Amino acid sequence: MKLHFSEYGSGKPIVLLHAFPLSSRMWETQVEFLAQRGWRVILPDHPGFGHSMISADTTTIDAVAQSVAELLEDLNIEQSIVGGLSMGGYVALSFYRNFPEKVSALVLADTTAKNDSPQRRESRFQLIEKIEKFGSEVLIDEMLPKMISEHTKKSNAPLVEDIVNAMKEADEKGVSAALRGMAKREDFSGFLPSIKVPTLLIFGENDRITDIKEADFLHTKIEKSILSFVPDAGHLSNLENPEVFNESLLEFLMLLGE
Ligand code: MLT
Repeated sequence: MKLHFSEYGSGKPIVLLHAFPLSSRMWETQVEFLAQRGWRVILPDHPGFGHSMISADTTTIDAVAQSVAELLEDLNIEQSIVGGLSMGGYVALSFYRNFPEKVSALVLADTTAKNDSPQRRESRFQLIEKIEKFGSEVLIDEMLPKMISEHTKKSNAPLVEDIVNAMKEADEKGVSAALRGMAKREDFSGFLPSIKVPTLLIFGENDRITDIKEADFLHTKIEKSILSFVPDAGHLSNLENPEVFNESLLEFLMLLGE
């Protein structure tokens, strides 16, 4: 399954994997910052999001990771920093598990290693039914209130509008396939101690989807991890407070000696 991607800058590669139900456009607040500092930023769209096509009914996390590996092979990139936010983080973890030699460092933002509880799985199937009846617009009521912080709601109307539009425009088939894939995903908790690369864990201070408990759990299990919180941000920490997110990311990249 070929993924559409865009790339910016030249230098050491960093792949950033997007959240559900957004697209690689969600990294637009990082692209220039990184490219200007000598990074080659590679932004794939998951199947059925952005400009990537979809044919399957279910988008498994492992299949997306496999497609990212194929993309990097096409680009002749042997090793890269791999980062992802939320669903992007699930893919980053799967990518590391399947291709550890291709990863020099990980960035896990607002994500979890745990799989869905039975209730969460059930709620995903209910959401698919609603999407089939009413379209992807239902994501606005179902997801947006929990996704961003109160601060963002009050102070960043353009961002709220952008997210609303992204949800309205999301491809129904892509969204449903990703929901099925996330519902099926494995628990990665037991694998975390095997992660041997430096890992930045970065979370919005007010993330209500993947909260401080998730962040602490990852931090205790991943040996070489650094934990950083982004103030005034919820689940979409890179978009809600790009200044702090970018500075933390840069600090981490500099620690790597890159
Ligand atoms: C995301 O932001 O990617 C979603 O919260 C992931 C999920 O639904 O598990």
